[in-house]
Amino acid sequence: MKNLYPPVDEKAIEKAVAVLREGGLVAMPTETVYGLAADADNKTAVMKTFAVKGRPTNHPLIVHVADAKALTRWVSSVPREVRLLTDAFWPGPLTLVLPKSDVCGLFVTGGQDSVAVRCPSHPWTNALIRAFAGDTGKGLTAPSANTFGAISPTKAQHVADDLGVKPEGRVDYILDGGECGIGVESTIVNLSGVRPEILRHGAVTRAMLEEVLGFSVPDAGSDAPRASGRLKSHYAPATKLELVSKDKIAEVCAEQSMLRLAVMAPTDVLETLPDCVKHRFVSPETPEEYAHILYARLHVLDELGCDRIIIAEPPTGPEWAAVNDRLGRAAADKTGL
Ligand code: TXA
Ligand code: MG
Repeated sequence: MKNLYPPVDEKAIEKAVAVLREGGLVAMPTETVYGLAADADNKTAVMKTFAVKGRPTNHPLIVHVADAKALTRWVSSVPREVRLLTDAFWPGPLTLVLPKSDVCGLFVTGGQDSVAVRCPSHPWTNALIRAFAGDTGKGLTAPSANTFGAISPTKAQHVADDLGVKPEGRVDYILDGGECGIGVESTIVNLSGVRPEILRHGAVTRAMLEEVLGFSVPDAGSDAPRASGRLKSHYAPATKLELVSKDKIAEVCAEQSMLRLAVMAPTDVLETLPDCVKHRFVSPETPEEYAHILYARLHVLDELGCDRIIIAEPPTGPEWAAVNDRLGRAAADKTGL
């Protein structure tokens, strides 16, 4: 989805660069979600990101770079498939996992010998990485800027509400570059094994990858490298969330009429719901629109303080993979972590 971002604020970029050079943490807007950036060469700074998020230190981070040339600083070799993918999708929401170079610290990769690299297209992030790195190829580690396991941020306000800014909060600086256009995390492709595999679905779909590569790109199996977005319960609101098929929602709501319910479903389904449902939200009709509003909507639904959030299962076509993946994890039982 195309989004109109505010013009890049050069003063704010300068301030963010200064914070990063001093080993501080900057929340930065990307086209997918807000990231919590640190200088990827600075071990102390990178380790702070784990502490601030409450994320286990063996969960690897993505290195964000200014362009495809910078890849060679972080990975040990750049095979032909990688060139095809970077030519087609960079800058953009595609992360590539490759064998790491000697320059890349094990503190970035959670101790693994592969590293994830991505070149974001958001004009503010692009300006930030360029100002920070020049043509050195240096990069910024950036997990999504949220407490581990919680809903990812797609607005600066989400970061302010969750992690907060120092001295009261945990982040040194928040760069407010508007609302993220895409709204769900990047597609991750593992290119460190015998054949390319999808580790996480995102706006770059399987069909788009296969068209560029000319062969099929399956999902990674259960032996895939560690990825926190692959945990069963992730991206989750505090309120219990149930995914229900469209034709069962009215019945499920009626059964729970003594609870305070918030429902998101297509308009025709909302019209059939019993009066007990006070909070009603219309589901977007396209996968792009749905991804764009998904996390912001989960934040709103969670803040209503209802007993249950009920969401109509979206369609199951391949272009809905990223939305269904995130919704499934948001609805998963937290005890199943
Ligand atoms: O869209 C995005 O990718 C956002 C924005 C901020 O760029 N970032 C993001 O980061 O989603 P994070 O840390 O929340 O998720 C990174 C994912 C995790 O699932 C992690 O395990 C996986 O990337 N990952 C990183 N390095 C890896 C590696 N070497 N092998 C396998 N998975 C890796
Ligand atoms: Mg995350």
